[in-house]
Amino acid sequence: MTPKFIVFEGIDGAGKTTQIKLLKENLSRLGVNCYITAEPTDMPSGKIIREALSGRLPVSCAEMADMFVRDRVIHNKDAEKGIDSHLDCGVTVISDRYYYSSLAYQGAELGYERVAALNLDNPDIRTPDICVFLDLTPDKSLERIGKRADTPTEIYENYDYLEKTRRMFFDVFERLRERGENIAIIDASGTPEEIAEMIFDRVSPLFK
Ligand code: TYD
Repeated sequence: MTPKFIVFEGIDGAGKTTQIKLLKENLSRLGVNCYITAEPTDMPSGKIIREALSGRLPVSCAEMADMFVRDRVIHNKDAEKGIDSHLDCGVTVISDRYYYSSLAYQGAELGYERVAALNLDNPDIRTPDICVFLDLTPDKSLERIGKRADTPTEIYENYDYLEKTRRMFFDVFERLRERGENIAIIDASGTPEEIAEMIFDRVSPLFK
């Protein structure tokens, strides 16, 4: 079976972590071995992004977009932890966030075209086989974020920004579908089991 590159996206609080774990479990029943990864990465290029997201390191929007691109290229190409190296070994890769987040979040500030040029035209940034978007209204998202006591509030977590970003994501998906990308928009307001089933229905045909 050809390994696939699967990306999960969603505004903050959409439940990506839970659903990625459930998808890995469900795919293992088909005999598909999955490696779970995330952006920003846990490599130095990703750690510096976390500093910027927390507000501890002041950077401009343009610098931020560049930092995400640098981290993404390393994420693709790193010999040990990289996306390419896993796919080459026959392992399916599931990433928590990818360039869709840049197109939505940084695109909202810098304009879509500029961020698209940095990401979509970069030969070291692979196109995923499917993007699963966990869709949640900003109200529901903030409600869930509020219940997570262990995470510091990051600069992007407020209502207007979440609403604007959700609209940006939809705009991004419309444009990328025109380029032939496979995008599954999943209603993430149900129970974890219901959501997992909807995701599996969209992802499992890739392995047939
Ligand atoms: P993270 O703590 O991973 O949040 P979550 O669990 O919701 O994914 O923080 C990642 C943050 O970085 C999130 O607010 C979105 C933002 N981000 C961008 O702005 N651009 C990007 O390209 C990526 C990958 C993430």
